[in-house]
Amino acid sequence: MNNYFQLSPATARTPSRVSPPAAAPKFKNPRAKHNYVGRSCAVAGVGAYVPSRVLTNFDLEKTVDTSDEWITTRTGIKERRIAGKDEFTSDMAAEAARRAMKSAGVTADQIELIIVATITPDMVFPSTACLVQQKIGAKRCAAFDLEAACSGYIYALEVAQQFIMSRTYDTVLVVGAEKLSAIVDWKDRNTCVLFGDGAGAAVLQNRAGTHGLLTTVIGADGGKAELLMMPGGGSRCPASKDSVDARLHFLRMEGKETFKHAVQAMCTAAEEALRRCEVDISKIKCVIPHQANRRIIDAVGERIGATPGQLFVNLDRYGNTSAASVGIALDEAVSTGRIQRGDLVLIVGFGGGLTWGAAVIEW
Ligand code: UT7
Repeated sequence: MNNYFQLSPATARTPSRVSPPAAAPKFKNPRAKHNYVGRSCAVAGVGAYVPSRVLTNFDLEKTVDTSDEWITTRTGIKERRIAGKDEFTSDMAAEAARRAMKSAGVTADQIELIIVATITPDMVFPSTACLVQQKIGAKRCAAFDLEAACSGYIYALEVAQQFIMSRTYDTVLVVGAEKLSAIVDWKDRNTCVLFGDGAGAAVLQNRAGTHGLLTTVIGADGGKAELLMMPGGGSRCPASKDSVDARLHFLRMEGKETFKHAVQAMCTAAEEALRRCEVDISKIKCVIPHQANRRIIDAVGERIGATPGQLFVNLDRYGNTSAASVGIALDEAVSTGRIQRGDLVLIVGFGGGLTWGAAVIEW
């Protein structure tokens, strides 16, 4: 077997009478060395959902000591979406999932596994994935949550791919969904201006004749866990009057330190993903970075050699939606025609944990 992805005999194209000279492969598929002949993890469809309520920087000026000018120049964010009081992470996840299933042409009974990446589950347990299963009517599948903060969507793609490539499942639903407005300290101007709510979903499927997810790089550094965390609510600090008074049930972040590590980790992960596929950045049609901060996105783009035209940015309208951000951006890039079938796409993210990830996808 050579080192490049091969289609199975059943799906390989019939050779024409006069065969053209074999073209050099446009990329290497790192999965090929694991003998995944005839197997692929295609992104069959994507979908996203954001709540209708818009909270602008000008709205925030009225509640905390901030300004549209500060938020815009330091982050690039102009507005974000906020879920309704009775709208939960599972509701947003289920709607994004329905849209992804529709775009993939897949019905609920075809879904064999649901993975929901979130740091804002409806409850500690049962998992939000189980609630989504019930809401979309996918009765015959396994379901679990995955927690890797803002890198959750990319982690979930990797886990889903493992199930598909190992021939355990053919069709897996991945969702990144967050109701961050429920854990943001609306009195803390350092953090409350950054985050928003929403969900992004993808249906991954073993599909003949496509390559799909080519490689995924994921990593973590628990030594820097304190940079981005919510201290209260877990078994270390269960809810009590004291924990509530000390505002321990809100997200906390060391912004400056997080910023530095974000740029470094995203560049390293992106470069490793490209290296594995032997793809130059110039061949990537669209780079979809985690939408945390415009300055982070620009710094990463510059260091990995991406042009501004390759970078996809929508954080001006949604802010940082953590595990949902890459999924929402992917859906928008596809629906606006920035990504077409056959294009190479690089996604890259970073988040609490610390965690990071990158993936190269042939769309
Ligand atoms: O998605 C997970 C990963 N998260 C991230 O990637 C976020 C990474 N960090 C960042 O994006 C940036 O560090 C922030 C946007 C959070 C902050 O930007 P910064 O340039 O690092 O600002 P800073 O924290 O150093 O604060 C500069 C000043 C401070 O005032 P003094 O001490 O210089 O007087 C802050 O108190 O800006 C002040 N400040 C604000 N002023 C107006 C902080 N937040 C605000 C605010 N409005 N909302």
